[in-house]
Amino acid sequence: MVANFTERLDLSRAKYTFAVVTMGGIGVSALHQLNGIVRERRGRGLDAAFAVNMPGNFPPLMRSVPAGKCGEILERADRRLDEIAEAIGSGRPVSPGFAPLSGLVNALSYGSLAKSARDAGELFSVSDACTGCGTCARVCPAGNLTLVDGRPMWGRRCELCCACLHFCPTEAIQLHVMFGTEGRGRYRHPDLTVAAMEAQRGQNVPAPDTPAVQGRLPGAPVLF
Ligand SMILES: Cc1cc2nc3c(=O)[nH]c(=O)nc-3n(C[C@H](O)[C@H](O)[C@H](O)COP(=O)(O)O)c2cc1C
Ligand code: SF4
Ligand code: SF4
Repeated sequence: MVANFTERLDLSRAKYTFAVVTMGGIGVSALHQLNGIVRERRGRGLDAAFAVNMPGNFPPLMRSVPAGKCGEILERADRRLDEIAEAIGSGRPVSPGFAPLSGLVNALSYGSLAKSARDAGELFSVSDACTGCGTCARVCPAGNLTLVDGRPMWGRRCELCCACLHFCPTEAIQLHVMFGTEGRGRYRHPDLTVAAMEAQRGQNVPAPDTPAVQGRLPGAPVLF
């Protein structure tokens, strides 16, 4: 999805390229990936790269943070955005200052996990708590979900973003990878609406056989 988004950018006259990504605290795979793509397209990687720490949204790996703690993290993120806006406004080159584990997370995310994600349909289950409301299908950014006889069916272009889990009003969906998602909490940004998710659905959908693209930022440790 990051690769497809980048395809839509015209970099031909760009003098200063920057990227801002959110992260759940372990690393910033999307920055590695973006940097690799930008370098491939214009012979030089990103001039500035920023990560904003947010609450984690992948419960199979990290339990969701409690509501009170979320508020603190979001306030810090707002302050961080002010700093980032200042740096971008002045056109400063900024190296990302990666966490030591980011190279590892990158290798894992865009290795076996990303490749298998597209076929992740069988890794999900839905319980009898499902009311057939269709919210999961509306919010899926990849357009990977359809309702069949009032129950969600997963296709073959999943990005493992977990939006379907987090937005389900009855917590009927579980994802059976790593530690699973049962009782591990749900998170969605308090300002994010179903309508906003629906409006961007399918905009950057990769073809099912699109290979994951790897990249590495200057200064980032190479672990694999
Ligand atoms: C497809 C996808 C990939 C992600 N990759 C990473 C990652 O490599 N490292 C990381 O720390 N967090 C990663 N995250 C976590 C989110 O960036 C973080 O939890 C999210 O910003 C919180 O949600 P919000 O920004 O929508 O409020 C990823 C999230 C998604 C949906
Ligand atoms: S969002 Fe939840 S309740 Fe609604 S259709 Fe999907 S699984 Fe069922
Ligand atoms: S919402 Fe995210 S996790 Fe759920 S099916 Fe769509 S891409 Fe996969």
